[in-house]
Amino acid sequence: MSKQTNGWVLVLDYGSQYTQLIARRVRECEIYSEIKPYSFSIADIKKNPPGAIILSGGPSSVYEDNAPISDPNIFNLGLPVLGICYGLQIMAKQLGGKVDPSTQREYGPAQLHFTRENELFHSIPGNNTVWMSHGDKLTQLPKGFEIIAHTNNSPITAIKHFDRKLFGIQFHPEVAHTHNGKKIISNFLFNICNLNKGWTSESFLHTTLEKIRTVVGSSKVICGVSGGVDSTVLAELLHRAIGNQLVAIIIDNGLLRENEAEQVIHMFDSKLKIPLNCVDGTEIFLQRLRNVFDPEEKRKIIGETFIYLFEHEARKFKGIQFLAQGTLYPDVIESQSSVGPSATIKSHHNVGGLPETMNLELLEPLRELFKDEVRRIGKFLNIPDELLNRHPFPGPGLAVRIIGDITDEKLVIVRRADKIFIDELKSFGYYNNVWQAFAVLLPVRSVGVMGDERTYENVIALRAVTSVDGMTADWAEIPTKLLAKVSTRIVNEVKGVNRVVYDISSKPPSTIEWE
Ligand code: XMP
Repeated sequence: MSKQTNGWVLVLDYGSQYTQLIARRVRECEIYSEIKPYSFSIADIKKNPPGAIILSGGPSSVYEDNAPISDPNIFNLGLPVLGICYGLQIMAKQLGGKVDPSTQREYGPAQLHFTRENELFHSIPGNNTVWMSHGDKLTQLPKGFEIIAHTNNSPITAIKHFDRKLFGIQFHPEVAHTHNGKKIISNFLFNICNLNKGWTSESFLHTTLEKIRTVVGSSKVICGVSGGVDSTVLAELLHRAIGNQLVAIIIDNGLLRENEAEQVIHMFDSKLKIPLNCVDGTEIFLQRLRNVFDPEEKRKIIGETFIYLFEHEARKFKGIQFLAQGTLYPDVIESQSSVGPSATIKSHHNVGGLPETMNLELLEPLRELFKDEVRRIGKFLNIPDELLNRHPFPGPGLAVRIIGDITDEKLVIVRRADKIFIDELKSFGYYNNVWQAFAVLLPVRSVGVMGDERTYENVIALRAVTSVDGMTADWAEIPTKLLAKVSTRIVNEVKGVNRVVYDISSKPPSTIEWE
């Protein structure tokens, strides 16, 4: 799928933890935006020119030996540029200004004062609170620039070029702690870059249906369905675009939750009217995963086995040329170290775990979306809420929720514990208050006492998080009554478990899944 054209915003990533937030804020202004590594070439930019460029923050100092530096010609493309934090500093340095280390790191809130009136701060009240997070600061303006805002600590907090649309700000408008941050971004997009809104569910659908039809032509597409929101929206999208050229299949990899395959088949049949072929892959998956402990190895094996089975199934139907996957933008970002200097976190199976040679071509129409955007598209497609609001479930399934090697007994334990947790969340009316909830089986045994007898059994960790898009998450403060009920039920009903703990870690620094 090629990216959306028509006034999009290129975000160059210098490794900030907030880069994705910049892209999200731009999209919230109904303008398409995409993140690329800082090394993205001028030739690549020219292939599909954006309407503006935003330079992200980053942890480096501009004068470090291997500080990330983009081609300085990005400032000569005639495009508006907004540098944020490190982005301001690198722009200033490349254009002849001076950046020096501060004696003291500035982290936290500061009050913004306007030195000169400017469109960037249109409708922003004086004394606006902004969020700072920097060690270096700009000490000398590059030629042709003037100061437009300052704080008590930073005389040069915002700058602009006299007659070119080059702007830099030291604070982070993308974080919620900056008051009116989104307004500052929208001022840049609309008042300065004169971009037009156009990134809506409707426009996405319109262009995506067209693209799918053009790419697929008269061939067929095999689409793996898990019952999660991504693959459900994907299947519905494909069904609308190409009708019965779609072959939807669900592969039971033996790592699904209790009765999951049956439930998904029923929902597809009764609610979406999309026929679903079920393939039982339990044996091959579990056999390949036997004695595998390493999480990345598990993911690779699962990814490869999925592709093996998809290709095997595809041969049964005539004319299948494509494999459709519900890969989302966070999967792409977290699986590729090529995006800016940030490291690979996990190989999400549908991105990092694919084999090098594949007979089917990949079709990933949701590749540029965040999860909440997919839900909005799903709503627009009239997919029932009970399908759209299902908690996300990872492609590698329970394999990444059993820490260490996978056995039939462990699968039974984690499946039962998970079912109790989810059932109780639903009966307390709390399921929709959390983004995702599940049970994890730990490779730890602990001593307990049950009916006067000593036990030495497994520990289940419960995890529930709130999140908008899975990129960051907070542990959910679910009612203790609910936790108590789940704990009692698990210890009483799941043979082999004598202890339940609740995970109180946020992402970052933890991830949502344990592996
Ligand atoms: P993490 O654990 O990376 O998870 O914080 C973020 C979200 O992604 C889901 N997840 C995956 N989904 N394949 C998937 O399709 C994977 O390999 C995978 N790993 C994590 C996870 O459940 C959470 O919703």
